[in-house]
Amino acid sequence: MQSPEGPRSKKVVERDSKVFSPADRIRYYSLVVSKAEGSKIWDADGKEYIDFLSGAAVTNTGHRNPKVVEAIRKQLDRFIHGCSIYMYYEEVVKLAEKLTEITPGEFPKKVAFGLSGSDSNDGAIKLARTATGRTKIMSFIGSYHGTTFGALSASAISLKMRRKVGPLLPEFYHVPFPDCYRCYFGHEPPCNMQCLKYIETLFDMFIPPEEVAAIIFEPIQGDAGIIVPPGSFLPRLQDICKKHGILFIDEEVQTGFARTGKMFAAEHWNLSPDVILLAKAIASGMPLSAVVARADLMKWEAPLNFFTTQANPLSCVASLATIEVIQEERLAERAEKLGKKIMDHFNSLKKEHELIGDVRGKGLLIGVDLVKDRESKEPDRKAALKICWRSWENGLVLATLGRFGNVLRIAPPLTIREEELEKALEIIDNAISDVEKGKVPDNVLKQMGGW
Ligand SMILES: Cc1ncc(COP(=O)(O)O)c(C=O)c1O
Repeated sequence: MQSPEGPRSKKVVERDSKVFSPADRIRYYSLVVSKAEGSKIWDADGKEYIDFLSGAAVTNTGHRNPKVVEAIRKQLDRFIHGCSIYMYYEEVVKLAEKLTEITPGEFPKKVAFGLSGSDSNDGAIKLARTATGRTKIMSFIGSYHGTTFGALSASAISLKMRRKVGPLLPEFYHVPFPDCYRCYFGHEPPCNMQCLKYIETLFDMFIPPEEVAAIIFEPIQGDAGIIVPPGSFLPRLQDICKKHGILFIDEEVQTGFARTGKMFAAEHWNLSPDVILLAKAIASGMPLSAVVARADLMKWEAPLNFFTTQANPLSCVASLATIEVIQEERLAERAEKLGKKIMDHFNSLKKEHELIGDVRGKGLLIGVDLVKDRESKEPDRKAALKICWRSWENGLVLATLGRFGNVLRIAPPLTIREEELEKALEIIDNAISDVEKGKVPDNVLKQMGGW
């Protein structure tokens, strides 16, 4: 197989394979980043790409957004580490105030900071148990919450994450999420809310609801394949939680910060979560996470949940600048508008491409579900990987996700220019045609691990 990467990229990848842990990367193609700006990435050999991945829904404001860069630069000249375990600094206060103000829910809130989406889930689990005195945690099949032990215990998406590492945390229960394209109960739309009935059945038969501390949910399941629940599902789930005194934990690590066309996806359904979990786009790529919770729940004591470099001042100022850019440039509205355009585009391509089974999402969090045939909906994971490969060859960074690994992940920076967007869509269209005509050989799959 001819490798399309240049000699410099090739060398880095060869060296990497000798020293970088294989559990720490999902393999696609040999993209060695040397520079990134806005919606563009350049590799080590100078080749330019449009970015449809945004570093896994992180660079919502674009790579190196000038305002974010400026905020980090200024802070670099003051101090890099303040250690908020022992000291105070205003940047962290300002950010906590801002997060409590912009997150849904009209009640006093407090914030616990960390470094990654995974640790925010672990924090939320500890918070739920300490606040309620209950131990059981519910989450959804298909959910991805991260790789630390708590987050991993809540996740239910990949055997590769779970094999051999157990025992995981006890008292975790996974229930089906309403995936209306491939319903776990084999039901055809409109949804009959079997997933809610299932939870109620568990509560009637073997899980005493008064022992359940929290239900953790992604408002739109991301890595499961961009699964948008039907209209009344989340509000009704919230009602069930209220009825039984169960904390309603909104995991917005992937959906947050305007990605779905609202600052937080919970706003699509007017939810008022007890706890909201944030990371990824929160600081445009600087490491930061946050557990934003009802103030009255935070009765826990140090050192139960802290990290030495939590709320790093560089990350805090980057986050404040990120939020400012999202608000000033109305990026939520922009995501909604561009997202509609992209969904219309892929829906219209269904006429030409039998491979496209379903197009779904909100804002600029979109999944294109590829199938072997529309009747059986059998997932076509190989085709999805080949499309990513051909797109990469033609200058587009595209990845897959989904519980079957067959969904194209469409998540460009929210600042992407319209001409870049059109070019990227053309690249995907051509890649789909090439794959349908058998022009992308099977041997590319050797390099493509995918989900
Ligand atoms: C919904 C969701 N939660 C949690 C995580 C884990 O975040 P991190 O990789 O920053 O620990 C991810 C990452 O993909 C995610 O998509």
